[in-house]
Amino acid sequence: MNPLDLLLSRRSISPAALGEPGPGDADIETMVAAALRAPDHGGLRPWRFAIIRGEARARLGDVFAEAVRTRDPTWTEALLERERGRPLRSPLVIACGVRVRAEHKIPEFEQLLAAGAGAMNLLNAAHALGYGAMWVTGPNAYDPAVAAALGFHAPDRLVGFVYVGTPPEDMAAAERPVPSAHMAEWTVPLSAAAAAA
Ligand SMILES: Cc1cc2nc3c(=O)[nH]c(=O)nc-3n(C[C@H](O)[C@H](O)[C@H](O)COP(=O)(O)O)c2cc1C
Repeated sequence: MNPLDLLLSRRSISPAALGEPGPGDADIETMVAAALRAPDHGGLRPWRFAIIRGEARARLGDVFAEAVRTRDPTWTEALLERERGRPLRSPLVIACGVRVRAEHKIPEFEQLLAAGAGAMNLLNAAHALGYGAMWVTGPNAYDPAVAAALGFHAPDRLVGFVYVGTPPEDMAAAERPVPSAHMAEWTVPLSAAAAAA
């Protein structure tokens, strides 16, 4: 596919709709290589990815359930079981983390943006390889116990989980806003009121 058509056709696909097969080693390496093409102020190379597949997904589910139980001991066993099942929905889960350099001259905000840009490249590469994918966060992604279980200790953190698998054949094109609603020619400084409009 032409690269622009590829960018213009990417859409997220719910983890529950992503089936086997998931990407093998070579495709995973290609996706991560694409992530490492993201811009990165200061050459900090903050991207770190934990590749979770096969049986390891069930262990990640246990980590999720334990984290939820610790945050809120009133959760029922049925709700905890739902947490355990989350990573099992897709063949592959990639936990996207960022190695944060605290107090670095490159602001942490920019380090997080670089990590986010890496995750975006991961999504586009998955699409280019014919897989479906979706970037998901939620409370578990922001729980330091979950991050630590995946090898990310503060100030390092997770920016999300990218679920990857084979998409259904009959996926409809996703609606998108028109570009003109999201852009405007800028020529002179705007008043605060006009800028907020
Ligand atoms: C940082 C980030 C976190 C997200 N977390 C979730 C999430 O936890 N649950 C969810 O349903 N969608 C989440 N999304 C949105 C989906 O990844 C996806 O973008 C959305 O379903 C719209 O689909 P689209 O990518 O085709 O526009 C998140 C997106 C981003 C960028």
